[in-house]
Amino acid sequence: MTSQDVRKQFLDFFASKGHLIVPSAPIVLKDDPTLMFNNSGMAQFKEYFLGNATPKSNRIADTQKCLRVSGKHNDLEDVGFDTYHHTMFEMLGNWSFGDYFKKEAINWAWELLTEVYKIPKENLYVSVFEGNPEENVPFDQEAWDIWKGLIDEDRIILGNKKDNFWEMGDQGPCGPCSEIHVDLRSEEEKALVSGKSLVNNDHPQVVEIWNNVFMEFNRKADGSLEKLPAQHVDTGMGFERLCMALQGKTSNYDTDVFTPLIEKVEQITGLKYTSNEVLNISEEQNKTNIAIRVVVDHVRAVAFAIADGQLPSNTGAGYVIRRILRRAIRYGFTFLNIKEPFINQLVAVLANQMGEFFPEIKSQQQLVTNVIREEEASFLRTLDQGLQLLENVVTETKTATVSGTKAFELYDTFGFPIDLTALILREKGFELDEAGFNTAMQAQKARSRAASEVSTEDWSVLIPGNVETFVGYDQSESDVKITRIRKIDSKKDGILYQIVLNNTPFYPEGGGQVGDKGTLVSANETIEIIDTKKENNLILHFAKKLPENVNASFTAKVNQDLRNLSSRNHSATHLMHQALRSILGTHVEQKGSLVNPTYLRFDFSHFAKMTETELQQVEDFVNARIQEQLPLIERRNIPFAQAVQEGAMALFGEKYGDEVRAIKFGESMELCGGIHVKNTAEIWHFKIVSEGAVAAGIRRVEAITSDAVKAHFASYENTLNEVKIALKNPQDILKAVHSMQEENTKLAKQIEALVKDKVKNLKAGLTAEIQEINGIQFLAKQVDLNPEGAKDLAYELGNLGNNLFLVLATADEEKPMLTCYISKELVADKNLNAGQVVRELGKFIQGGGGGQPFFATAGGKNIAGIQNALEKAVEFVK
Ligand code: ALA
Repeated sequence: MTSQDVRKQFLDFFASKGHLIVPSAPIVLKDDPTLMFNNSGMAQFKEYFLGNATPKSNRIADTQKCLRVSGKHNDLEDVGFDTYHHTMFEMLGNWSFGDYFKKEAINWAWELLTEVYKIPKENLYVSVFEGNPEENVPFDQEAWDIWKGLIDEDRIILGNKKDNFWEMGDQGPCGPCSEIHVDLRSEEEKALVSGKSLVNNDHPQVVEIWNNVFMEFNRKADGSLEKLPAQHVDTGMGFERLCMALQGKTSNYDTDVFTPLIEKVEQITGLKYTSNEVLNISEEQNKTNIAIRVVVDHVRAVAFAIADGQLPSNTGAGYVIRRILRRAIRYGFTFLNIKEPFINQLVAVLANQMGEFFPEIKSQQQLVTNVIREEEASFLRTLDQGLQLLENVVTETKTATVSGTKAFELYDTFGFPIDLTALILREKGFELDEAGFNTAMQAQKARSRAASEVSTEDWSVLIPGNVETFVGYDQSESDVKITRIRKIDSKKDGILYQIVLNNTPFYPEGGGQVGDKGTLVSANETIEIIDTKKENNLILHFAKKLPENVNASFTAKVNQDLRNLSSRNHSATHLMHQALRSILGTHVEQKGSLVNPTYLRFDFSHFAKMTETELQQVEDFVNARIQEQLPLIERRNIPFAQAVQEGAMALFGEKYGDEVRAIKFGESMELCGGIHVKNTAEIWHFKIVSEGAVAAGIRRVEAITSDAVKAHFASYENTLNEVKIALKNPQDILKAVHSMQEENTKLAKQIEALVKDKVKNLKAGLTAEIQEINGIQFLAKQVDLNPEGAKDLAYELGNLGNNLFLVLATADEEKPMLTCYISKELVADKNLNAGQVVRELGKFIQGGGGGQPFFATAGGKNIAGIQNALEKAVEFVK
């Protein structure tokens, strides 16, 4: 059975049990501050368990792209070493939201595994929660009884809180779970050791494949559990492990999910991967295998994250992605001996393999390849630099042990991986002070943890069960009641309150547009709302203090001025997107945007720097749409498929519902939840202020509209006026500037001639001052010349004889400078070097420089040091 068939049968099975099949949510989460990546199938449904939103069906099934590389569930460091953990994996899942519970979930799981997939029953074990008195959660008798009807009692195992109580994070929905484990060992091995004793014992062939969670609780901030309003089912089956079981393999990497990628790596590296069936492999082969597993696993995580809009970067989710890719690069570099970018070549294989089910990887294949290639190239450069530095460290180190702080410096500043440092040091016969490294690492972690720490209290609910409605598309003011309040305390912003209302006109940050600011006004007081954000379907209004009377009636008032400015920038972003696609081509895809009251920023895929003409064309295009005074055509709640069919732009990595909102200005049509102008005329004018690169194949344009354009032009006019005044108010500024330039050129020529004369005069006088020391003609002297003059003088004097060692100092325009000239014969015979001379003497004037062995210069900061430098010069000839 191919992996494609395995996936399809799962979805077909649950469709036949009345489940709605939905697509995977993007791997990167956008509106959940507690989680960076989807780490389980249920993450996108969290709001349904908590009762903040209503699902479109109370039975849902899907396969979800998951990433377990940060936070509570993190497998990163295991990946490669074992054969059944991954960074990215697919989680097959079925859900009941307040509908069926344990009986159906367990029976269906059993039916699918044993009757559809036909896994022999005697290869399966199941576990049930044993209960936990401290948490006040009893033994799961109900699950036990259901399983007893399906499987031998001695195949049911009791599990503790660690294994059989599932929690998504430190807070949030959770509950007891029942896991299904499969024993894939040979008959001989089974006869020797019972499978039951190996369950949950990290045996690579006795592994958990499916977890059925019975969501009943919410873990609160103080660690206590509260009952959820309804009972739910959340299940997750590891797709790659299931494929291993169904394809008769003993390693996930031997299934067709990974073999095409492995074959490509073999082809590139000329190395061989040995399947898990091959026993007694050499230490060398084992290392190769691990490295290949790391590479083929990590490329999936990185490629899908990029396709979902998360570019590698230096912060947040982008940094996690960069680190995963760097881990792969370094395994390739060290153990596969590949010193060139190569991981990017796997993207084509991946697109081929998974593109049918996950179209985002196919349609963005080129972009993903480019981004990975560029990241590889740049990290390989870093590794090169790091190797140089390490070389220096080793030369400087006088003992057998290299200090941990030095290694940490390499790691921290250059991203040079510690295991590589240790490896190279070992090869050179040095030890690494690992304890020192760890201490430095811990200290840094503690610093960054402290900086990002946020403590979140539980909600206090004022009006229960109220679902908040957003009225901000039609109103900027609304009569509201507060339904819940929560206090958060972060190192960054201090204490803040999050307020939820029964309805709100405040737009929460999203789709690039910043959240609204404004006020909550009651009869007696006014509370400032400093920001608005969305978290799992709740709109959170941020305030520095709470109203005295939280139960009062309020008017929520959006700051309309700021919102207007943002909405002009947002509508202009749509027009610019259209302009870019029409001028540069339809390969242009949005890769990120920021819209705030001051400016707009738009990142998009495009392979080259935009030319001045293209930028001008984009500006003209947008301004033409503004002049056409296009009215906003907003359509709410149209089916997604219809909107896309009508030509609406949808973005990869965005999570769209079945019903969407489309924003149309003339020919521009995008799916968008943001706030827009009613007519493009409100934008007034559009002006691009910068264009640059953010990553390989991704450009960034920043632009301004309306008031900011006025301010922009006003500031230009101001500068121009000042120039005019400085030029003494000429009739024609441009003519005045040109004649000044001509004048300047004339004067420069005159100065040049004068300096030449001066050099001639000085030469005559200085020749007499040359001393002979050790057979060398020596002169060190300060002269009143500019740098060019000093150079001329040095060459003139140099022409006199063969044995000249000359140091001239100048202080033209208060800048000290040393010029050293050494006759070529001296350079060769006496091993003198002008570059070295100026570097040494440059220290006295707090500067540095260089040049050739016979002529070099150094500029500096300290005029007072000139005398010392000149006095010291003689030592070179002595
Ligand atoms: N949410 C459960 C898990 O991830 C199914 O294991």
